[in-house]
Amino acid sequence: MTRLNWGMIGGGEGSQIGPAHRLGAQADGNFVLAAGALDHDADKGRDYAQRLGVAADRAYGDWREMLAGESAREDRVDLVTVATPNSTHFEITKAFLEGGFNVLCEKPMTMTVEEGEEIVKIAEKTGKICAVNYCYSAYPMVREMREIVRTGQVGKIRLVVSNFSHGHHGDATDADNPRVRWRYDPAMAGVSGQFADCGIHALHMASFIAGDNVRSLSADFASTIASRDLEDDAMVNFRMDGGTVGRLWTSSVAIGRQHGFEIQVFGETGGMRWASEQPNQVYYTPVGGRTQIMEKGEGGLSDEAGRMSRVAIAHPEGFPLAVANIYVDLAASIRGETRDGLPTAEDGVRSMAAVHQAVASAKANGEWVDARPPMYR
Ligand code: NAI
Repeated sequence: MTRLNWGMIGGGEGSQIGPAHRLGAQADGNFVLAAGALDHDADKGRDYAQRLGVAADRAYGDWREMLAGESAREDRVDLVTVATPNSTHFEITKAFLEGGFNVLCEKPMTMTVEEGEEIVKIAEKTGKICAVNYCYSAYPMVREMREIVRTGQVGKIRLVVSNFSHGHHGDATDADNPRVRWRYDPAMAGVSGQFADCGIHALHMASFIAGDNVRSLSADFASTIASRDLEDDAMVNFRMDGGTVGRLWTSSVAIGRQHGFEIQVFGETGGMRWASEQPNQVYYTPVGGRTQIMEKGEGGLSDEAGRMSRVAIAHPEGFPLAVANIYVDLAASIRGETRDGLPTAEDGVRSMAAVHQAVASAKANGEWVDARPPMYR
């Protein structure tokens, strides 16, 4: 099968998420990095793109140059990944969708709910794919949990408890480090700090596994380091359309926790737990029975869990290959297949609505608010 042409904006040398996209997109031979505007510094971006194998005339200085350059080509990129800082996602994603390109946007998709709704509408109107990189949903054993819920093996879901709490911004003496400070500065990060950064992964995961949408929420935000305007810790209670109760804790000051993303799902006839730091296992307990450890790659798992795994049982697969699973489904979608589970612009705008409504709730002492974007009310 011919490889698809792939372009990247952001994700330059030394960036956090850039390598995971490059490993992910190219892992299965679906995409070749054909174009890029990789850095806010034009020269550095051009230079790095060429060192990654991009032809000089497609190693662009900025995304507008890339949009013009690629639009004029017959072999234009089939997919553009937007891996720049949050505040730039909307204008870049919008411009490329309107230019007729498929887009994978990093989370959070936009800064406002209005922008999010606009992206959903543009994607619908242009018929182009707009995916959002909720990549944790593409771990094999997360797919297994989703299949277990779908096939009724734990009954109706009563409760979802999701944490994404790490301790890497817990050192008050490091709070002024520019790489840390911007995340809690409204001018750079928007209305929310930790909830918009990590909490939305946990919220998306709750919806993804439960197969339901968040309807209402009540939030308590705290800035535990006094110099921070935005929250570095949040507790969010929520309810889903089908009545499932949700509890979510997200923090960046939980010293000692490393990645700190885990989810527990409790149904009428069983419970399950998965953690990103032990992604090969799901702990499953049937009501009245013993806890069992389900292992990625073992017999008897769902086809979906099998499809998402490439390496033999017990070998760590990990984050870049979860991102790769997103790219596998993107490639299939670009080639005209339907792939269930790919996170889309709808997921992106639902997250943005939850962020903005959580901020409003926290300001109103935890008042319960409608968590849905107006377009889905
Ligand atoms: P970073 O600060 O490490 O890197 C950002 C990169 O984008 C740099 O190479 C910078 O030069 C480049 N850049 C900035 N403005 C640009 C522009 N206008 N045009 C082209 N390049 C530009 O940031 P990081 O941590 O890699 O985050 C990037 C995005 O990825 C954020 O939106 C973040 O929320 C998201 N992210 C998602 C993760 C996930 O699990 N899905 C994990 C980490 C980050």
